[in-house]
Amino acid sequence: MPQQVLVTGGAGYIGAILLPKLLERGDSVTVIDKLLWGIGPLLSIIGHPNLRVFHADARDPARLQPLVDEAEVIINLAAIVGYPACQHHPTTARETNVGIIEAIANRMRPSQRLIQASTGSTYGAVEGICTEETPINPLTLYGETKAEAEQHALRVGGIPLRFATVFGVSPRMRLDLLVNDIVHQVVHNHTFVMYEGHARRTFIHAVDAAASILFAMDHYDAMSGRPFNVGDEALNYTKLEVAQRIKNQYDFYLHCAEFGEDLDKRDYAVSYQRIKSLGFGASITLDQGIDELLKVCPLMKPFSIYRNF
Ligand SMILES: NC(=O)c1ccc[n+]([C@@H]2O[C@H](COP(=O)([O-])OP(=O)(O)OC[C@H]3O[C@@H](n4cnc5c(N)ncnc54)[C@H](O)[C@@H]3O)[C@@H](O)[C@H]2O)c1
Repeated sequence: MPQQVLVTGGAGYIGAILLPKLLERGDSVTVIDKLLWGIGPLLSIIGHPNLRVFHADARDPARLQPLVDEAEVIINLAAIVGYPACQHHPTTARETNVGIIEAIANRMRPSQRLIQASTGSTYGAVEGICTEETPINPLTLYGETKAEAEQHALRVGGIPLRFATVFGVSPRMRLDLLVNDIVHQVVHNHTFVMYEGHARRTFIHAVDAAASILFAMDHYDAMSGRPFNVGDEALNYTKLEVAQRIKNQYDFYLHCAEFGEDLDKRDYAVSYQRIKSLGFGASITLDQGIDELLKVCPLMKPFSIYRNF
């Protein structure tokens, strides 16, 4: 059944893949986005009769509230994404990452549905295998704000989706993401300096991240009021293993450095059994994602604007 869907931050990396899928299903889609990365990512769908795009700041209640009121489903993607960007803009990060979802949750009626884009960066340092029962212990402002945001979503029965690190090509490219970053750097420099290569990380293609949002819309009653790790055990790799998979397709010099650290302390194997038990799994492998990145990154400039900091 087609629905009225509001997507905050819909012109971003994940939103630009999600929106065409919603429109294909017959949903009517409203986007509110500050257009930090321009309108380019939505140009191919902008003429669709069921799409409306508002260039506005979702922190502004006068702009957000009327759109929340008319929506059946709200998908909150708007954020200052990643710890470097949050460190650079701490006040904006808090107002955006927490303030918008708080305002949405305060405004919502019980019949409305809410899906919140969250992240594995909420966990912090984890011993053993990370499940949704693992205590949340964020170590950066990004993780903290996303963890606080989850609480607002949960109190109205919303579904926080804790995405693995996303990779792959989107109409709004991001090159600050680990896999995308390595591929972009090696095709331009033929070298990559890696720190904490043995850290265990977990990944998901942007197409599958978008698919998980549709999945949550379709399984809302079963998922409502609980967080879900979104990824696939088949995509748990160490950073060094990722570099090796890239090397299999494109040779480069890998230097393992003693300096540098991930402030989110992401070094864990993640369990995806909760979402898998409902039927969700990734459809795109790391090798497939690397293959498409190797087609695109040589065509991009060595110094790119597509970084979130
Ligand atoms: N890509 C990943 O690896 C990843 C992983 C985990 C979680 N997430 C989460 O998924 C969501 C989407 O991430 P993305 O990769 O698409 O990021 P992105 O930076 O590409 O997109 C975010 C969008 O939000 C918009 N925005 C920012 N502040 C706004 C405001 N005040 N009002 C309206 N719009 C605003 C930006 O213009 C941008 O279009 C975020 O909430 C992020 O925390 C992403």
